[in-house]
Amino acid sequence: MNKKYKVPSSFANKAWVDKRKYDELYAWSIEDPIGFWKEHGQCIDWIRPYSKIMDYSFVPPNVYIKWYEDGALNACANCLDRHLDTRRNQIAIYWEGDNPKEKRTLTYGELFREVSKFANGLKKIGIKKGDRVAIYLPMIPEAVVSMLACARLGAIHSVVFGGFSPEALAKRILDCEAKLVITADEGFRRGQMISFKQNTDKALSDKEIKTVENVIVIKHSRNNVPWERGRDFWYHELICDVSEDCPPEAVNAEDPLFILYTSGSTGTPKGVLHTTGGYMVYSALTFKYIFDYKEEEIYWCTADIGWITGHTYGVYGPLAAGATTLLFEGVPDYPDVSRYWQIVESYKVNILYTAPTALRSLMRYGSEPVTRYNRSSLRLLGTVGEPIDPTSWEWYYRVVGEERCPIVDTWWQTETGGIVLSPLPGAMDLKPGSVAKPFFGIKAGLIDKNCDLLEGPGEGSLVLSTSWPGQMRTVYRNHQRFVETYFSRCHGTFFTDDGARRDEDGDYWITGRVDDVIKISGHRLGTAEIESVMTAHPKVSESAVVAFPHKIKGSGIYLFIVLAEGEKPSNQLTKDLKQWARQKIGPIAAPDFIQWTEGLPKTRSGKVMRRILRQIAANQPNDLGDTSTLSDPDVVEDLIKHRLNR
Ligand code: WTA
Repeated sequence: MNKKYKVPSSFANKAWVDKRKYDELYAWSIEDPIGFWKEHGQCIDWIRPYSKIMDYSFVPPNVYIKWYEDGALNACANCLDRHLDTRRNQIAIYWEGDNPKEKRTLTYGELFREVSKFANGLKKIGIKKGDRVAIYLPMIPEAVVSMLACARLGAIHSVVFGGFSPEALAKRILDCEAKLVITADEGFRRGQMISFKQNTDKALSDKEIKTVENVIVIKHSRNNVPWERGRDFWYHELICDVSEDCPPEAVNAEDPLFILYTSGSTGTPKGVLHTTGGYMVYSALTFKYIFDYKEEEIYWCTADIGWITGHTYGVYGPLAAGATTLLFEGVPDYPDVSRYWQIVESYKVNILYTAPTALRSLMRYGSEPVTRYNRSSLRLLGTVGEPIDPTSWEWYYRVVGEERCPIVDTWWQTETGGIVLSPLPGAMDLKPGSVAKPFFGIKAGLIDKNCDLLEGPGEGSLVLSTSWPGQMRTVYRNHQRFVETYFSRCHGTFFTDDGARRDEDGDYWITGRVDDVIKISGHRLGTAEIESVMTAHPKVSESAVVAFPHKIKGSGIYLFIVLAEGEKPSNQLTKDLKQWARQKIGPIAAPDFIQWTEGLPKTRSGKVMRRILRQIAANQPNDLGDTSTLSDPDVVEDLIKHRLNR
């Protein structure tokens, strides 16, 4: 029997949506999606009203998705201008630095001024609608300012996670043909300096990059950094003599808002493209209902803006709702493991949205570092990014939330733009580990190996069979890849690449990726990406990467290496290869374990049998399943014998 926690009536009575309303609205959204989304499209402001609601086809080869296509709007104006009459002096952003002594606040009025000036600064250097702008920044208010300034002009931002290496940055700049890079001198993490500007310079030394005309640098550490005259501008200098008036560009609903690169099973990361109208409607609506956001509440999403969670629930969703949000540059355990709770107490945070990995890493230290601080302001808790195990869920519920705060375990993806499965906190009982039910307008289903839809309780691959406004529209400059990746495996439905179980109440339980994507501490990486980097090392002949269950990170990276002729394994080489992965992709890609092997288990047609490698990495060599198609069974014996004892 699954444990169930009833929604406290004190919460449900005040929630936007209770059980009856969820059932009603959900039924409406499925039976009459046009009527439902016509009305709910009004949750944001339009410059030119829409008359068309949706038009899409999920059937290859002719896949297209359009929402509100004849409407026009501006995403930035929805986050700022429309709040000025009522919230000019309300805090929009509380910023807390990695160093606990560093704090800043920006009201909606101040944020509006800063964004308008920066948008004018961007215009001054020739940025216009449709241009791509790469943003490579630490978690500082200017990161939000940069995204919104691009949106104000209709320029397309492509935020690159600050933890990515210069090479990873270069690849993303190349793919989207960015005209401009916005970065900082340096950032901080656990008191350590991160060289953003130097990394940017390194990335731009890639001879293939021909589109970048300028680099804008935000002064953060205030140390000297290398400079290329004519190309580089200081942010503060660029905006010192520009007007504060910058009318927002009216963009069509289907004009792109941003590109965000994400990893898949194969090949290089995909440029996930989101457009403006549907994305803004979906962000605003999910934010309001799932976080049950009420006026004047303090909301804190701990995700980095380099990931989709930071985009939708760090920037666009909360600001469209006029929320006060907290932006945190640091990490949960610096200067000590109470940092989160100390922040909750000092800003009186009402809603906290974080990743299971952060909870698992803090849970190790027991409850005292949590209870030392006052958490009575907390009203709602959320998690995202990877499955949460019931033990961590219970800890979050009991210790952090004092059994008072519902937890919304929200399932979604870069591709979905916003939350797709989650409890609505006033409407549903909570089951630790379950992502509950689909949001309005979402038709979720489970399919078996033959792509047949399962009825009732069961387990299979999660698919979404109708469109929703926040859905990605294409892979940037590669529509074919979009069609093949998401719509060709199960004709006419959106294939999520996650496995899930549905119980007798119709609640969903995510079992994890069914492809070769790994979620490491909630960060998304593709095994193919790591393998191609490892195989490029001069001492490596072949490599294979699989995930293994990791107590804190959820998944860890286990790397199998076949060395090049004449090379010998050594501790030094282990270190070098780990360093290589950090350097080529970023610290999150560093393998936890490296096992040397003479060969990889392959089928007779030469395909690596990852299933076997996964079992070995998980230290379960007795459970290898069918090995009859192996071309060389001795390889497996050898792999088992030399597996790393953990
Ligand atoms: C996983 C993050 C279980 C899932 C928003 C998905 C989750 C991938 C959950 C997308 C959850 C996200 N429970 N698994 N609540 N939320 N995932 O693109 O495997 O970085 O496919 O988007 O994260 O990762 P992405």
